[in-house]
Amino acid sequence: MSSFKEKLDKTRLPKHIAIIMDGNGRWAKERGYDRIFGHQNGVTSVRETTEAAAEIGIEYLTLYAFSTENWSRPQSEVDALMELLIDTIEKETPSLNKNNVRLMAIGDLSRLPGSAAEKLQRCIAQTSKNTGLALVLALSYSSRWEITNALKNICTEVLAGNYNIEDINDELISNHLTTKSIPDPDLMIRTSGEERISNFLLWQLAYSELYFTKTHWPEFRKENFYQAIYEFQQRERRFGK
Ligand code: IPE
Ligand code: IPE
Ligand code: MG
Repeated sequence: MSSFKEKLDKTRLPKHIAIIMDGNGRWAKERGYDRIFGHQNGVTSVRETTEAAAEIGIEYLTLYAFSTENWSRPQSEVDALMELLIDTIEKETPSLNKNNVRLMAIGDLSRLPGSAAEKLQRCIAQTSKNTGLALVLALSYSSRWEITNALKNICTEVLAGNYNIEDINDELISNHLTTKSIPDPDLMIRTSGEERISNFLLWQLAYSELYFTKTHWPEFRKENFYQAIYEFQQRERRFGK
């Protein structure tokens, strides 16, 4: 059986893939475990997907790890997720370096517990010289938060006389988002069968191809990732033209 990886056209790979990693809780419940067990198993999928992306030369991989709305989950789940985040970032730093992966983060990082923010910044600094895949973690992120923030900053600059109203265009807005140095995603994947955006990259996904799979995140492996890219390559992107 030939794999999806072999079937990929290496000359037409998406530059940026964004993933809504969903279904951890349901995956665990279906197996008689609590939701945290699902989050713990999701770490393997993060590792596999990051490796898969690095192997074929994807430039940007954005993973939606925690949304602004996720702060409203039970405190015990939020605490467990933050702890898992700290542990994982610390443990994975050497292998990120080994794979030439540079870590980045988008979101309202000021809401993260101090220890989590510190470990995150340390890992970002320790991988900042890597030139391969950029792994972007969306943490305490929501698109409406990001756009609201951008609007405030643009208004402040207009009031300060740095811009005129007429200067506000697509490019200026993009440059005020947390993703300013990152190209828009070509492909957005959501696992677990839900077909919605859940406040993720609303501006940036304008012309992205959307791919939904029933596979829950803890079961998502390299072949699932390559299959999504394969399906992406069968589509025709028209950009309104
Ligand atoms: C995704 O899995 C992980 C996070 C949102 C942090 P969920 O926790 O949303 O799992 P389901 O969707 O309830 O199954
Ligand atoms: C989106 O999943 C957020 C992340 C994957 C981090 P959710 O499970 O929080 O979204 P809804 O509630 O299904 O829309
Ligand atoms: Mg969910």
